[in-house]
Amino acid sequence: MAAFKPDVIVHCGALTHVDYCEANIEESYQKTVVSTKNLLALAKQLEAKLVFISTDYVFDGIDGPYDEAAAVNPLSVYAKHKLEAEQRVLADSTSHLVLRVTNVYGNEARNKNFVSRIIEQCINKQTLTLKLPFDQYATP
Ligand SMILES: NC(=O)c1ccc[n+]([C@@H]2O[C@H](COP(=O)([O-])OP(=O)(O)OC[C@H]3O[C@@H](n4cnc5c(N)ncnc54)[C@H](OP(=O)(O)O)[C@@H]3O)[C@@H](O)[C@H]2O)c1
Repeated sequence: MAAFKPDVIVHCGALTHVDYCEANIEESYQKTVVSTKNLLALAKQLEAKLVFISTDYVFDGIDGPYDEAAAVNPLSVYAKHKLEAEQRVLADSTSHLVLRVTNVYGNEARNKNFVSRIIEQCINKQTLTLKLPFDQYATP
């Protein structure tokens, strides 16, 4: 990183398995908060802008949709750690951008997201039995 001297660092890394984080709090903290702390130090040192990919999970979901000024209330370990990480970015960096994204989908190497998995299963003519939450609304 020091040799490359980036103008912008986009921090996508985190422990994103929300249920797993509940039982593995320290690992979640390391991969989500400490990774941010480390990149923050690097961004400062290199005078690079730090773009932090956060999440709508910083909200409790009771009274959405939310705007940037809405009060946060993270419910899960994952969400609490994402919030702590974004607060560190907002407090410590001179140049930053925090994006609270939700329901990310599209083509990706591991084909992990919901939409691309459904499309693939349809193309492969797999019969689908979907068990899905029916009480969640999101604005991808
Ligand atoms: N997908 C969504 O709908 C969504 C919604 C809101 C926010 N986000 C945020 O968007 C970002 C990307 O999410 P994603 O869905 O693409 O998740 P993902 O596929 O799990 O990507 C996260 C990546 O971070 C890497 N990573 C974790 N800790 C690391 C560390 N200490 N050093 C280096 N790499 C590390 C993981 O590597 P390994 O695979 O090797 O573990 C993984 O490749 C995350 O910050 C997530 O919180 C995603």
